[in-house]
Amino acid sequence: MPDTSPPLTTAVVGLQWGDEGKGKIVDRFASEHDAVVRYNGGANAGHTIVVDGERFALHLIPSGILSPGTKAIIANGTVIDPDKLIEEIQALEARGIDTDGLVISDRAHIVTPYHKLEDARRERLLADDEDPMGAIGTTRRGIGPAYADKAYRDTAVRVCDLLDEDALRLQLARAHAYAPSEVRNDPDTPPPEEVARHLAEVGRYLRPRITDTCYLIDDLLRAHKRVLFEGANATLLDIDHGTYPFVTSSNASALGISAGAGISPRRIERIVGVAKAYCTRVGKGPFPTEIEGELGDTIRTAGNEFGTTTGRPRRIGWLDLVALRYACMLNDVDSICLTMLDVLRGIDPIRVCVAYDLDGHRTDRFIPDARTLMRVRPVLVSLPGFHDEIRGIETREALPPNARHYLSYIEEHAGVPIELVSVGPAREQTIVA
Ligand code: IMP
Repeated sequence: MPDTSPPLTTAVVGLQWGDEGKGKIVDRFASEHDAVVRYNGGANAGHTIVVDGERFALHLIPSGILSPGTKAIIANGTVIDPDKLIEEIQALEARGIDTDGLVISDRAHIVTPYHKLEDARRERLLADDEDPMGAIGTTRRGIGPAYADKAYRDTAVRVCDLLDEDALRLQLARAHAYAPSEVRNDPDTPPPEEVARHLAEVGRYLRPRITDTCYLIDDLLRAHKRVLFEGANATLLDIDHGTYPFVTSSNASALGISAGAGISPRRIERIVGVAKAYCTRVGKGPFPTEIEGELGDTIRTAGNEFGTTTGRPRRIGWLDLVALRYACMLNDVDSICLTMLDVLRGIDPIRVCVAYDLDGHRTDRFIPDARTLMRVRPVLVSLPGFHDEIRGIETREALPPNARHYLSYIEEHAGVPIELVSVGPAREQTIVA
């Protein structure tokens, strides 16, 4: 007899450069799960969810917090800006959302004010560098420096340290002493004793939520509870497999789940990838299908493509099937959730990239090295657009024929079925494909 029970573990990951609409998809799956786990990144991510017409923007807390009774777990692979976390907890509570289910790994790392200043300092240095690649265009949320300190070890602060004021004082004194002189002498740099005092206070506030989340996840799975893993940022921003160095500083693909949540890869049963019907990118870095000018502006406005975290206008591009195939391969996704299809209404033709031209040679392989990827030219195919409103449509069959053709074309080129199609921001504007 085939096993028809639903998978105990599902992961939802972004297949492009972030902002694919993972929040909405996670929110949809969350109600069928007992816990949602965030395993990487920090306040650089931004998830926007619209529930009953109310808009929620979350940066650190897993979107599962909006599903009553679902545990929201911030696991060890994350870097936490404690002030942002507390702000988010309090904002949710002010809107009547129960946050009792939120727990935080004792081994997650803390983003300190020094990390944010260092992030900004390095971006300034890079902008002035003679290398034409220039600055990374980070969110300046201290993500890179916090992960760098994690690797350095001697200057890192972990969540468990928040509960030991003496350890905190020592660690922060060293973090301050080892910081570059520009950061140390910056008038905005708080003295280490002040940071230690503040973090100890934060520790007292967060104490009831701090735990060993590896054991917690294991306990949940042993009790046959369903656990959802929510990736922040996205595959093409993954530090090992994205468009390095224009990436974030964690493993943002499904490959980061094991280390970032303390779970064996053997226990991850289903992996769902989220992709937009076109592409966007925030910050710098190669973007082979980028659309400049008026058409890009039209799509940006229709899709409200402005960063949840920084408010920056997102760069817009055609769907890159070379990149999508790569992301599907790397994550070995079971299915794709395609979002923002409604935004393409009225764009005719819709173009997609099926291969790259690199120095006169055609390739259908993605090139994760930024300098090389900057040299490719996209091989674009034009597909007929659709003009009818699709926001109220509830089945794939009821979509306009050209929209259906677009979905089939993507499935054929990605080699993966589309499971859900999002045709609007609201929870119910989703088609089970
Ligand atoms: P960092 O993560 O702040 O270091 O930024 C590194 C790069 O990743 C920048 O180009 C950011 O704009 C980008 N980035 C990081 N997180 C996200 C995200 O959640 N969505 C989109 N871009 C992101």
